[in-house]
Amino acid sequence: MKGLAIALVAFLGLMVAGFASTDCGLQYDYYHKSCPQAEQIIATTMDKLIKQNFDIVPNLVRMHFHDCFVRGCDASILLNSTKHNVAEKDSPINNPSLGGFDVIDKLKEALEVECPRTVSCADIITFATREAIHKAGSDFPRYEVRGGRKDGRVSLASETITFIPPPTLDVSGIARFFGVKGLTLDDAVTLLGAHSIGDSHCSAIGGRERNFKNTGKPDPTLDPKYAAKLRKQCPASQGTDPTVSLDPITPDVLDNKYYVGVLKHLGLFTSDATLLTDEATSAEVHLYAYNPAIWRKKFVAAIIKMGEIQVKTGDDGEVRKNCALVN
Ligand code: HEM
Ligand SMILES: *[C@@H]1O[C@H](CO)[C@@H](O)[C@H](O)[C@H]1NC(C)=O
Repeated sequence: MKGLAIALVAFLGLMVAGFASTDCGLQYDYYHKSCPQAEQIIATTMDKLIKQNFDIVPNLVRMHFHDCFVRGCDASILLNSTKHNVAEKDSPINNPSLGGFDVIDKLKEALEVECPRTVSCADIITFATREAIHKAGSDFPRYEVRGGRKDGRVSLASETITFIPPPTLDVSGIARFFGVKGLTLDDAVTLLGAHSIGDSHCSAIGGRERNFKNTGKPDPTLDPKYAAKLRKQCPASQGTDPTVSLDPITPDVLDNKYYVGVLKHLGLFTSDATLLTDEATSAEVHLYAYNPAIWRKKFVAAIIKMGEIQVKTGDDGEVRKNCALVN
């Protein structure tokens, strides 16, 4: 009797787990019948484009993040504004700092030749990000990604302000912005390792390098030598807005040096530096700074989780013909 009960519980558990892993409707090798070459076309094209310009790697990783945090991973980030609507991509949060739109257009063009109207723009961003990450750091696996995301029909600039975390956040703010999307603070700290590649406009630093909170002085939590270097790269004159590397240690490698930098008070934003002010996040920064393999493994799991936020499947969305326009 007891054995039967245990078997029943185990069976029910398996059922629940089975449903949980498929209830969002995403599948591995989703295009194996409709467009078997899809993931390979994206990989080959990305390879070529990354060799021409490495910047598209950070561009796409950030695009994927900004897409998934607003209306889920539904390519709402790619829709153009219209006469009556300002789209996400034209919010000051994304314009002019977000790049990579031309990369998506090239991937979509290549896919439309082989399999017209089959591969969604939302899946293209997700698969392209996987290739970017695989090429961005040594030892990053070409991890498995499920497909089947449909494209949304709505994109509102105002929602970027609501859902994209600003660089002024403290730890509780970070927890709140990620929590709203079903991600934990642990996920947030892990994903922030993406700030190990790419650039920031000087305007996003919030004056930490020379006039923090109108004190006329740099942020005391910023390394003074680094602040001096930033003042050279970011002139005080208005009107220009140059860029600086997010990770001054290894700016073009996706690695754990972001966490080493945060420990050395080289975190560029308040939202990076704040990780040292909380016991749990500080412990996590230390762990990743000293254990690159642990961070890499958790980063891959977290980016996969981020890529499945609020996805639209089945009839919830469409497969756009042109990623900038609803059908
Ligand atoms: C608390 C959370 C976060 C905040 C406050 C934040 C803020 C920022 C800011 C202000 C920039 C610079 C934009 C500019 O040029 O002005 C930036 C760049 C970037 N962010 Fe984040 N971010 C966060 C989380 C993430 C996450 C989760 C990812 C990806 C997994 C990510 C990936 C990137 C990348 C790759 C860049 C460089 C983009 C490029 O060079 O094209 N960020 N972030
Ligand atoms: C979308 O907007 C961009 C920038 O304004 C423009 O270059 C592009 O041609 C537009 N795409 C479509 C399909 O209208």
